[in-house]
Amino acid sequence: MGIFSNDKALVLKFALVVAIMVTSTAYGAGNFFDDFETTFGGDRVQISGSRSEQLSLALDQGSGSGFRSKKEYLFGRIDMQMKLVPGNSAGTVTTLYLTSDQSTGRHDEIDFEFLGNVTGQPYTLHTNVFSQGQGNREQQFHLWFDPTSNFHTYSIVWNPQLIMFLVDETPLRVFRNYENKGITFFPKSQPQRIYASLWNADDWATQGGLVKTDWSKAPFNAYYRNFNIDTSTNGKWKTHDLDANSRRRMKWVQDNYMIYNYCTDWKRFSQAFPPECKHAKFN
Ligand SMILES: *[C@@H]1O[C@H](CO)[C@@H](O)[C@H](O)[C@H]1NC(C)=O
Repeated sequence: MGIFSNDKALVLKFALVVAIMVTSTAYGAGNFFDDFETTFGGDRVQISGSRSEQLSLALDQGSGSGFRSKKEYLFGRIDMQMKLVPGNSAGTVTTLYLTSDQSTGRHDEIDFEFLGNVTGQPYTLHTNVFSQGQGNREQQFHLWFDPTSNFHTYSIVWNPQLIMFLVDETPLRVFRNYENKGITFFPKSQPQRIYASLWNADDWATQGGLVKTDWSKAPFNAYYRNFNIDTSTNGKWKTHDLDANSRRRMKWVQDNYMIYNYCTDWKRFSQAFPPECKHAKFN
């Protein structure tokens, strides 16, 4: 009897440990059925996995496809693992972005857009920020890895002080709120949904629209998995900022992989640069 109850206690302990392990691996693997809905493309959006933690998008000549979060968020951190269209992806654009209601004409938006390329040539990762319907805050990067061979984690940290774009925890870009310097361009009052899509943009995407989508390679597929949305009131995202190490990482990316920065585009802003550009050097 004594032995039996000891065994029982052991089994209970074991079950508890397993339960904890299962919960902690489930963290960061949100359920696409529960939290997202299809925006276009019908069954080109496919959810799979035992916890509905994987999603694929398809693009063919009939349509692209996309999905969005059911909920809106005002600040938080989102992480999404993505694997992009392999091979000749020229003309395709894969996205992960946040936007408030665009019908207002004064929407806010925070963008990751992955512009495809011909086989062997690098994707361009395009980033932008909109506030009150105004954009024109583009920075573009090449990546230091092949984004089509494995999943990588793309993250947006959005809090009242800053927006940070990260790839596998390495920050590419920080866009700060400079309202204490009288600059009002920063999304901070309109809730936003998470959107993702795969679509044809061969009128502009690849080498400025010169390279067209090769429809003989269709359907094109991009994959999303293991998203995490952190809006917890005591979350690290609230005060997330650069430290010495991440500052050094970001400088390495900007020195080696940045291919466009609106704040250095003298031709485009020959009259005046957007006001935050004079502070943005000191990220
Ligand atoms: C495609 O490859 C060319 C040549 O390497 C490069 O200049 C360009 O930035 C790449 N990306 C896009 C989207 O055109």
